[in-house]
Amino acid sequence: MAGVTFSRQGEIGIATVDNPPVNALSQAVRAGLADAVRMAEADSEIRALVLICAGRTFIAGADIREFGGPMQPPLINNLVFDLERTNKPLIAAIHGTALGGGLEVAMACHFRVATEQARFGLPEVKLGILPGAGGTQRLPRLVGVETALTMITEGGDIPAPKAKAIGLIDEIVGGDLLQGAIAFVERLLEEGWPIRRTGELPVAAVDPAIFDEFKKKLAKRQRGFLAPQACVDAVRFAVDYPLEEGCEREYALCLELMRGPQSKAQRHAFFAEREVAKIPGFSPEIQARPVNSVGVVGPGAMGTGIAISFLNAGYPVVIVGLDQPSLDKSLATMRKILGGAVAKGAMTEEGLEAKLALVTLSTHFEALSEVDLVVEAVFEDMAAKIQVFTKLGQVTRLGAILATNTSYLDIDILAEASGRPADVVGMHFFNPANVMRLLENVRGAKTAPDVIATVMKIGKAIGKVSVLVGISDGFVGNRMLSKRSREAMFLLEEGATPWQIDKVLVDFGFAMGPYQVSDLAGIDVQYAARQARWGILTEREHQANIVDQLYRLGRYGQKTGAGYYAYDDKRNAAPDPFVEDLIVRHSAARGIARRAIGDGEIRERLLYAMINEGAKILEEGVAARPHDIDVIWLMGFGFPAYLGGPMFLADQIGLKTIHDALLKYEARVGPEFFKPSALLARLALEGKGFYSA
Ligand code: CAA
Repeated sequence: MAGVTFSRQGEIGIATVDNPPVNALSQAVRAGLADAVRMAEADSEIRALVLICAGRTFIAGADIREFGGPMQPPLINNLVFDLERTNKPLIAAIHGTALGGGLEVAMACHFRVATEQARFGLPEVKLGILPGAGGTQRLPRLVGVETALTMITEGGDIPAPKAKAIGLIDEIVGGDLLQGAIAFVERLLEEGWPIRRTGELPVAAVDPAIFDEFKKKLAKRQRGFLAPQACVDAVRFAVDYPLEEGCEREYALCLELMRGPQSKAQRHAFFAEREVAKIPGFSPEIQARPVNSVGVVGPGAMGTGIAISFLNAGYPVVIVGLDQPSLDKSLATMRKILGGAVAKGAMTEEGLEAKLALVTLSTHFEALSEVDLVVEAVFEDMAAKIQVFTKLGQVTRLGAILATNTSYLDIDILAEASGRPADVVGMHFFNPANVMRLLENVRGAKTAPDVIATVMKIGKAIGKVSVLVGISDGFVGNRMLSKRSREAMFLLEEGATPWQIDKVLVDFGFAMGPYQVSDLAGIDVQYAARQARWGILTEREHQANIVDQLYRLGRYGQKTGAGYYAYDDKRNAAPDPFVEDLIVRHSAARGIARRAIGDGEIRERLLYAMINEGAKILEEGVAARPHDIDVIWLMGFGFPAYLGGPMFLADQIGLKTIHDALLKYEARVGPEFFKPSALLARLALEGKGFYSA
């Protein structure tokens, strides 16, 4: 029985799943579990069966790699019935994470015991599917419809004490899990507990209006995603149909989603997120440097968010700023943000104080003399950053890693300023740094391999998804974004309005369009960024100066009540005829004849300009793989997960289609903007995609 071994302790059979790394329910595991149940049934000396897992976790779900192809029997949805129907008590002993199909197997067992640290969830919705092995039918029977709806549609996981409190598990065991489970079984045998089959439990009555309420809420929160809505339908089957029929309907709905494009894209996103942790050509022998303490230079919003990320992971943080008031403000912000976690019950008051006790504030660089890693987060000005790196090179200990949070500037210049270029690297966090999961780690020309290994590792340790990129203007994410922003600006000049462009991107699946983002982030901030990049902008970009005009009018966006849009006192946006008039006059002054521009052209120009830039980024080796680009856009720029990222989407559209469109826009807008990258042109010609290059 590959994947499952059968043993016994006295009258108790033990089925141990051993399928590293996460005990996924591969065909061998499914078959092994079915065999184990049969063996226990056939052996008259065995009175109960414990299902436990070797390694770091309980079954973490179906084997996602098997999705998309034909499944080999036994299917999970049949297996769970085999488990549930067995006539000897079956007990799941859970450690690590019981996720997806793993939790479905556990719920099909008659009893569940777990370690204190175990976690439980049905994350299928994140893969664009729904729990297809009875999860939507059994969970409501154990924990009630509302809790089940929340768990299934959000896809998060809950800790063992909560699982116990809501009735998902029967007991938390301390000490050795197997021995704890056996003690539990001995007790139940001795006391003659009847077998309790989850599927036979009634679903507690519920107001059917709850289903519509959830659907409405999800239509907003998870706009565009099909799976959350289907999850609600599936849970409703548990109320409307007997178990077996509910399971059949659930499975059919799951298969439909699994075969659809959204799930394909979301599965791609799942594996891409893991792929980016592996650096091509990097020897596994390279050891990360130990990091036990961290410094942050610059106590502004970014530095404070970065400090919180490290505090949350338990690192002591020294924050260095120019003056005491800015440091005090940073500490107050930390207290406020971490206090939010206390208010939500996610942290205790003592926990908060313990975290803040890890902070040291100083106006002297010398306070950084002992730290292992410094992240510089001062404002985006080369001269200021050079000063910081010169100083850091002098005060920090040899071997301490010196990272910059710059989003555009050339790291190699800072590396030279430090006098220790091998220790210098980019760690580009995204705002708000304590929330956003993306971390672009930037390798300089002389960055030491073990420094790269360290920042990749530490990114994971602080809950980020680290992507390694090379030096280039705006690295990967902002470099592609700048091409999209450029097209958005040109489209305004040619005939579109800010609200038309925003709507196209919102309909595409972004939370906001570029002009809504400008008004939120501040037109003054955009103006300053544009000034800083003036030297590398083309002549047409210089002249496409609507942002400068708004800036001069003091229309800084939401904060001044007017930007591209007009705002009422509740910050509700409305299209502003004044801005439309300003744009029309701008076009006339530039001699550009405005025309009606279709949404299709807007979408293509915004998206294809980005994809073409992504192709150049690959060509230049700034990103090693299309996965890196997709993860950056999914994690840092709100690219809709159900489209899988720009490069994945490009492959779905077809590179030939994109190439043809680029040629069309090259003729219309200009070769300096739309000339297809050599890589894209070659792949289009060969009928390949970025992922099948
Ligand atoms: N199937 C296949 N491979 C899986 C997998 C799965 N369900 N879960 C994890 N892996 C692989 C990862 O791809 C990774 O492989 P590589 O080392 O080759 O990159 C390896 O296992 C380790 O995974 P992580 O790097 O994610 O390890 P971690 O310790 O950080 O996290 C985990 C462990 C929490 C279990 C995390 O892997 C996870 O969330 N896995 C997915 C869980 C999930 O979505 N389960 C539901 C599956 S769908 C389902 O079950 C459908 C159904 O109802 C029928």
